[in-house]
Amino acid sequence: MTEKTPRVWFITGSSTGFGRSLTEAVLKHGDRVVATARKPEQLDDLIQQYPAAAKAVRLDVTKPQEVRDAIKATIDAFGRIDVVVNNAGYGSIGAIEEVSDEAIRYQFETNVFGALDVMRAVLPTLRHQQSGHILNISSVGGFVSFGASGIYCATKFALEAFSEALAQEVAHLRIKVTIVEPGAFRTDFNGRSLAAPDTLMDEYASSSGAMLQWLKDMDGKQPGDPDKAAAAMIQVVESDNPPLRLALGADAVETIAAKLESVKAELDVWKQVSVDTAFEGAVVGAIGG
Ligand SMILES: NC(=O)c1ccc[n+]([C@@H]2O[C@H](COP(=O)([O-])OP(=O)(O)OC[C@H]3O[C@@H](n4cnc5c(N)ncnc54)[C@H](OP(=O)(O)O)[C@@H]3O)[C@@H](O)[C@H]2O)c1
Repeated sequence: MTEKTPRVWFITGSSTGFGRSLTEAVLKHGDRVVATARKPEQLDDLIQQYPAAAKAVRLDVTKPQEVRDAIKATIDAFGRIDVVVNNAGYGSIGAIEEVSDEAIRYQFETNVFGALDVMRAVLPTLRHQQSGHILNISSVGGFVSFGASGIYCATKFALEAFSEALAQEVAHLRIKVTIVEPGAFRTDFNGRSLAAPDTLMDEYASSSGAMLQWLKDMDGKQPGDPDKAAAAMIQVVESDNPPLRLALGADAVETIAAKLESVKAELDVWKQVSVDTAFEGAVVGAIGG
């Protein structure tokens, strides 16, 4: 593809926040987009503004048939898919013991199985094209886990695990994968997209409860600008050498760097105990190497 050929984007969760900002930025950039949403009418204004370049398609990522239909609608409309953005998601918060079984499962249905379904549905097209870029919107919480966010972070760790594996599996097919790890950005996330248990336990008030309150208090005050995040994502897609991981926000950079340092320090302190577990004389190297 030459620099001037418009790319075709497929974005989930385009109604608000990152999805909306990215959809707008992509259209301003001159690309084509299938913007998906549970209520596609929320995108009517953009479709009117860009009738040839934008298409809105209904997609609840927890509904596999809607996933397949939305991918097909993209091919029918534009003939190809160049960039897939798994953005739809929300945060199930609360202490591990507080969150209900049902809430945990629905969190995984959305953030993990939803993204996995989209990826698996689109891969035949990308393989056939021998091109494409998958952007999976994780979180700083996909690299570092926090109290009150254990379930949410588990979904983002899972997203990162299969993204990292996929990147290795498809590199020779000229398909790229980037994991995006935002810190706190001013979207609807800390408001309507945080799902907390109806009843909180007193026993967790000082640990999980305090973090939960911090997350709620952050609503409307997050430092990150989703429009700037959208510009960064476009920059990654245009790069000849895109990263596997892209942290967004100084908070994400600092938090991830601190974890890398602490993991390394702990690895060093316990190294002898770790390595002394092989059979006598066994040859040990890096996994997969
Ligand atoms: N903002 C942050 O600080 C932050 C930080 C790290 C990661 N993230 C990640 O960024 C992504 C987007 O969130 P946001 O910050 O832009 O928040 P947002 O403004 O609340 O947007 C969330 C989007 O996800 C959609 N969604 C939720 N469940 C869905 C489902 N089952 N099917 C389809 N769409 C669904 C919502 O659609 P409806 O309008 O229909 O509800 C909405 O479009 C999420 O994956 C989130 O985990 C956000």
